Amino acid sequence: MAVQAIYAPLVESTAVSFEVAVPSIDEMASRIADRQPAYPFLVAEWEESVVAYAYAGRFSGRAAYDWSVETSAYVSEHARHRGIGQALYAALLAILGEQGYRRAMAGIVLPNPASVALHNACGFTPVGVYEAVGWKLGAWHDVGWWQRGLATTDGPADPLVPLTGLPAGALEAAFEAGPATARRAALRRRDLLVAETSRPVRSPGDRGDC
Ligand SMILES: CC(C)(COP(=O)(O)OP(=O)(O)OC[C@H]1O[C@@H](n2cnc3c(N)ncnc32)[C@H](O)[C@@H]1OP(=O)(O)O)[C@@H](O)C(=O)NCCC(=O)NCCS
Repeated sequence: MAVQAIYAPLVESTAVSFEVAVPSIDEMASRIADRQPAYPFLVAEWEESVVAYAYAGRFSGRAAYDWSVETSAYVSEHARHRGIGQALYAALLAILGEQGYRRAMAGIVLPNPASVALHNACGFTPVGVYEAVGWKLGAWHDVGWWQRGLATTDGPADPLVPLTGLPAGALEAAFEAGPATARRAALRRRDLLVAETSRPVRSPGDRGDC
């Protein structure tokens, strides 16, 4: 599974993820399925291969946190710095807003200039740093937290909408939310939302917005 192949080297040889054992393909597949239909899990294709994914999940277990999510994105090394992460994140954040989620949080193991730049570019703001909070690969690591509003934060919390309950056209509209070249979503398999990005999604001078 392409998603597992993108994630495995980062688990094995970096502290980007605090997991220390590479999850199996079956484990990754069940993690994706378990998020459905409450949270989006998007992948991006480039030159007919899956090269990136972005997803959301619960921020915390207590019920009052139901409207908050934690988000993350991973791009294959050879496909980085082409706007793919930003295009996927833009779609992810737009879908989450449509579902009624209010706030997205992201924990970034520091230093990670690419992830910090991605989150800043997507409208996240830093909220603070947990110092020396994780031990991996023989060192203690800090985790910085970033947050971003999704939909209006006014008024009481409305019931959340599962992906399967979004109105027709909502996913397609979400994929128009990002950089101009992010293309429409297709529900390719039962549990997987696929963002098709058949060529580098960023052209020179096209910054895009999340
Ligand atoms: C972080 C990551 C997802 C970014 O994806 P990407 O597709 O390379 O990012 P994009 O090309 O969309 O760039 C998004 C922004 O980050 C900037 N950026 C990308 N790579 C960068 C780097 N190595 N250093 C500094 N800035 C960088 C881009 O310039 C852009 O900012 P801008 O719009 O202000 O110019 C990717 O580098 C990655 O998968 N890294 C390893 C896994 C990881 O760290 N995931 C995040 C976990 S919190």
